[in-house]
Amino acid sequence: MSTQNNSNFRNNSPVSEFPGVSPAVSRRGFLRRAALTVAAFGAAPLILPRDLLGADAPSKKVTVGVIGTGRQTQHINLPGFLTLDNCRVVAVCDVDAWRLEGAKAQVEAHYALEKTSGTYKGCATFRDYRELLARPDIDAVFVSTPDHWHVPMALAAMKAGKDVSCEKPLSLSIHEGRVLADTAKRLQRVTRTDSEFRSLKLFHHAAECVRNGRIGNLRRIFTGTPKEEMKPLQPHPAPVPPELDYDLWLGPAPAPAYCEQRVHPRHDISGRPGWMQNRDYCEGMICNWGAHLNDIAQWAHNSDHTGPVEVEARGEYPPLDSLRNVLLNFQAHYRYADGVELTYAMDRPYIRLEGDEGWIEMPYGSPKLLADIPEMDHVITMGCNVNCPYLPCKTREDWGIEDPSGKEDGEFLKVIEIIEQKISVLSKRLAV
Ligand SMILES: NC(=O)c1ccc[n+]([C@@H]2O[C@H](COP(=O)([O-])OP(=O)(O)OC[C@H]3O[C@@H](n4cnc5c(N)ncnc54)[C@H](O)[C@@H]3O)[C@@H](O)[C@H]2O)c1
Repeated sequence: MSTQNNSNFRNNSPVSEFPGVSPAVSRRGFLRRAALTVAAFGAAPLILPRDLLGADAPSKKVTVGVIGTGRQTQHINLPGFLTLDNCRVVAVCDVDAWRLEGAKAQVEAHYALEKTSGTYKGCATFRDYRELLARPDIDAVFVSTPDHWHVPMALAAMKAGKDVSCEKPLSLSIHEGRVLADTAKRLQRVTRTDSEFRSLKLFHHAAECVRNGRIGNLRRIFTGTPKEEMKPLQPHPAPVPPELDYDLWLGPAPAPAYCEQRVHPRHDISGRPGWMQNRDYCEGMICNWGAHLNDIAQWAHNSDHTGPVEVEARGEYPPLDSLRNVLLNFQAHYRYADGVELTYAMDRPYIRLEGDEGWIEMPYGSPKLLADIPEMDHVITMGCNVNCPYLPCKTREDWGIEDPSGKEDGEFLKVIEIIEQKISVLSKRLAV
């Protein structure tokens, strides 16, 4: 793969330059498209091959390929997927061979526990994500790479016929996000981003109270990110380590000489990667935590499908030649069409929702929700002291998903499963 020196890639999005692989049609994909075609054209006669409709088809398990096997994958995402009965991790992909082997070992050690032989060797490894996407037996991919790769990979995966779950922040720009959303809609792929705060009861609870009018009319929202230590750091170029395909790590980003602090710590799966503070790959905390807390703000405000109509922001950048060149601090003011104001700043991780009859505040990491709400205690511990029912989230309810807490990966798979079941039933009905 060739890399490009395109320092303006936020505006000149790379999304169309990584077109992906030619669509590989899996059984599930075939059924889905067949059923959707029928749905679009009414009850037109549809003849499906018999073996697609057998008792064990489509497969009971969603087969998953994981792209990017770094810190978040090995500590959080992979352990989550491995404990789910309805999925099978069949492939992992990374441009760092040491990390790739670690992930493969984790997968195989887990599945080996199910085997009487005590061994399992069924997890394929790929350096190039396009080869993983070309495998027709993979239903869904989980993208957990640095942010600059999210949208190009998610697009390629959708075009290859896969459902996609992708880490937050989902995109680097509004344009990239728009292209991704439009493509998901056009190709009818199940898509999800890893803003797991929605799956935490505390935040769900806060949104519930606000939407139920428990603080009166919502007036002001405050969200904050943690402050970051960002001492200037000059790059010290070094030879590319033998285990790393640096060219493929860079992908659509500019191509400076390698240095470890730009990428991730070598032979270490716990250290915070340097790319998280460099604008060639992400925007730093403003997007990193903003993806979480502003998502909750919009959820509580019930503006998921719209957004603010005005924004005014100021911030301070370090010198651009420092490796750490994302925002040092910032404060942004947003106004929504209904007059609600949101202030988002680098401060501490929290969200505060103020209405004309009360307020709710959630410091991140605390199991408590602070509140001043009529008829409620000032401190609400999860699951008690609350007289109002848990707000049914329409999307979850629609899919028959009950308790969201701690099940974010399972939820994605469940959505895929339910869609497949519905399609399977539809296909059978149409085939008789
Ligand atoms: N949901 C959360 O709470 C949460 C928390 C931490 C990180 N994250 C997100 O997870 C993602 C990964 O973060 P991390 O801390 O694990 O970073 P990391 O640098 O440790 O891991 C990323 C991995 O992707 C690999 N990679 C890079 N380019 C690749 C390519 N072309 N093909 C295959 N693999 C490639 C890297 O080699 C690395 O192993 C980021 O988007 C980050 O924002 C989310």
